Amino acid sequence: MIRPGEIWKDHAGQPINAHGGSILFYKGVYYWFGEIKSGRTWRVEGINSWEDYRVNAGGVSCYSSKDLLDWKFLGTALSPDRKDSSSDLHISKVIERPKVIFNKTTHQFVMWMHIDRQDYSYAKAGVAVSTSPEGPYHYLGSVSPNGQMSRDMTVFQDEDGKAYLIYSSENNKTMQVCLLSDDYLKPTSLYRRILIGASREAPAMIKYNAKYFLLTSLCTGWDPNAALYAVADKPLSEWKLVDNPCKGKDGDSTYHSQSTYIQPIVGKLNRYIFMADRWNKTNLEDSRYVWLPLYFINGKPVIEWRKEWSPLQ
Ligand code: GAL
Repeated sequence: MIRPGEIWKDHAGQPINAHGGSILFYKGVYYWFGEIKSGRTWRVEGINSWEDYRVNAGGVSCYSSKDLLDWKFLGTALSPDRKDSSSDLHISKVIERPKVIFNKTTHQFVMWMHIDRQDYSYAKAGVAVSTSPEGPYHYLGSVSPNGQMSRDMTVFQDEDGKAYLIYSSENNKTMQVCLLSDDYLKPTSLYRRILIGASREAPAMIKYNAKYFLLTSLCTGWDPNAALYAVADKPLSEWKLVDNPCKGKDGDSTYHSQSTYIQPIVGKLNRYIFMADRWNKTNLEDSRYVWLPLYFINGKPVIEWRKEWSPLQ
């Protein structure tokens, strides 16, 4: 069973370390990627306007599962750099929210992620590639899409093979959606400013009944707040913020967590896993996973709390 908010152990009995994560479904197997957060948490000195708690950047982990319950650790998919302090991947930097998609034309697995400095003033999107899902991923570098800032981000792969980078931009005030190149390795010049001035982050996108849905949180650092979903006819058309999809008790704090990804349960119509992080800001390694069922009722996404549940039932 999935027990949201409780310690979740992998197949070998170790707590799963895959924060701000995402899932890739490839050839009958689910691959879960996430931030490795381990060791001491400290607060960065000299930053008083927000609570900049951090751990050393630990790279990106990869786990696999066929049933979404029993996860096997496959290793570090993207390793941090322990030596070169000028590298984007140096342990002193920020490597967050890794998202992986498979490109059918190039046969490459493409990982996008948020790359930053410890004060979050760098605001870039990093990209890495691999020929196998679990890696190792080869880091290609980071970009400011069309010269724009990019912090919390996700990627969305559409049925037509097009993929989009969705990111908090303009100092987290406005999000942007940018079409990626056909090989998924670069932003194109086609992008749109969305949710203008709404200060949204932690994006997660899905498509349902020919409409596109984007779940986001408000910007309150590691502290939870109420989620909102937005809807659009196309990724690059106008987005409208609609409502909080989280129902019942603690729905106004996203059950004390923050969105990171929405994974369709393959083979089940209208069944998704809403994946969120319950950050423990003073001990980030002990941040927990809140995975809950998401489904649509009358065309609207609904998320409900479950103490325990099984996605395949
Ligand atoms: C949150 C963001 C997290 C992390 C954190 C750092 O707003 O969603 O991914 O960047 O800030 O304080």
